[in-house]
Amino acid sequence: MQTPVTIVILAAGLGTRMKSKQAKVLHRAGGRSLIGHVVRAALPLAPPEQIYAVVGHQAERVREELASTGIGFIEQTEALGTGHAVMAGRERLASLDGLLVVLYGDCPLLSAGTLERLIESQAASPHAATVITTLLDEPFGYGRVVTDADGRIAAIVEEKAASPEQRAIREINSGIYCFRAELLWRHLDEIGTANPAGEYYLTDIVEIFRRHGYSCGAMLLEDAREVLGINTRVDLAQVDRIFRERKTLELMLAGVTIERPETVTVDLDVRIGTDTVVEPFARLLGQTSIGEDCRIGACSIIADSTLGDGVEVGPFTIIGTSAVEAGARIGPYARLRRDNHIGAGAEIGNYVELKKTRFGPGSKAMHLAYLGDSVIGADVNIGAGTITCNYDGIKKNPTLIGDGAFVGSNSTLVAPVEIGTGSYVAAGSVITHPVPPGSLGVARERQVVKEDWVRQRREKARLENQDRVV
Ligand code: UD1
Ligand code: CA
Repeated sequence: MQTPVTIVILAAGLGTRMKSKQAKVLHRAGGRSLIGHVVRAALPLAPPEQIYAVVGHQAERVREELASTGIGFIEQTEALGTGHAVMAGRERLASLDGLLVVLYGDCPLLSAGTLERLIESQAASPHAATVITTLLDEPFGYGRVVTDADGRIAAIVEEKAASPEQRAIREINSGIYCFRAELLWRHLDEIGTANPAGEYYLTDIVEIFRRHGYSCGAMLLEDAREVLGINTRVDLAQVDRIFRERKTLELMLAGVTIERPETVTVDLDVRIGTDTVVEPFARLLGQTSIGEDCRIGACSIIADSTLGDGVEVGPFTIIGTSAVEAGARIGPYARLRRDNHIGAGAEIGNYVELKKTRFGPGSKAMHLAYLGDSVIGADVNIGAGTITCNYDGIKKNPTLIGDGAFVGSNSTLVAPVEIGTGSYVAAGSVITHPVPPGSLGVARERQVVKEDWVRQRREKARLENQDRVV
């Protein structure tokens, strides 16, 4: 039988160096929270009920962020250090046998594959613990791995406590460990606070084990990037860039053309079909899914939306939580604000804004319009400057427009109102009553023409001036 594995993710710290009102582990890189990345790496290695996050600072929000993963939580009421954070789990975890993996919530690039190797390496070893380490040219801020004459790990020394010689050590502690659980619980309380920060350092356990005659192993990673820890916003930007480079690379290798990929922002959960072209400076965010053969214009922003095949999004277009069916064309300079559904082959042109609107297949709104809380049928033409007055100062009201209707330019549709199938609205109308199917709605003053008016007016003005001179 395989050794049972329990995973504990430390996520209770303040993250002082972020200088933020928000807990560090809730900051985002690649479109996901830092803690979200770590939990994702842990999930393939243990069932969710054997994974715990230690929460403290903004515990409620961290729980919320991870609610869908099904993992458990442990409260650390005061953030007194990484050793203290593990101690907080004693009651829940000390009875569990096997291996205990400790991860830090601010280390989001770690992969499940590396974790698996760590667990295998510890399980096959005589050590009390195995630590992931790596070599850094600039190890500042990390705990340094001190080895003895035989090359075994003797201690991990934190930056603040390190001597100048120790600071010169390039091998650093990643903060990812696999312990023999029973030994950890037996000796954990021997960790004290005799260090410059006055914190319980989990890293002290290495020396403690050694004193009791147990050894610790190191698993040295070639690729240091995988264990980059985030302490400041500079680290955050660096890690975010790594995620995004990986993502665009993966998409390009899967058949997506990305022009100037270094300028494009694609969140990790975004899906894009083959032969779609993404122009420079596009931002594709959240749970967005884009079909094949689409074109995403320069500087567009698409968030949490679904686009079918062959959709064209013009430059500077903004789309939020909307669905766009195959072959539709949106923009340039259009905004689908939220909860819209655009039918196949429909066209939404420049300076057109939609909110909570179903826009039927083949319908067109090419210029300067606002369509809110509307249901618009198929093959409808919405003229330039059409406005749905969906808000009466108290509540939102719907506008219904039937198939094949033609709404003339600069029409004002005062909701609730219905424009029947195949009917016309005359340009410049203010429509306050239903227009039945097949009819024309005109709601404006009839035009008056005053012939010869200009000459008469000038004549009148001339006579008045003469009077004044006399
Ligand atoms: C830690 C390690 C250091 C290692 C580095 C790797 C210690 C003492 N030092 O330093 O050797 O090189 O990570 O990135 O462990 N946390 C809690 N409760 C606390 C304190 C921290 O849950 O009381 C959590 C934080 O939320 C964070 C993680 O533990 O996710 C690491 O804490 P942090 O303060 O960032 O440790 P480092 O100083 O980076
Ligand atoms: Ca850290």
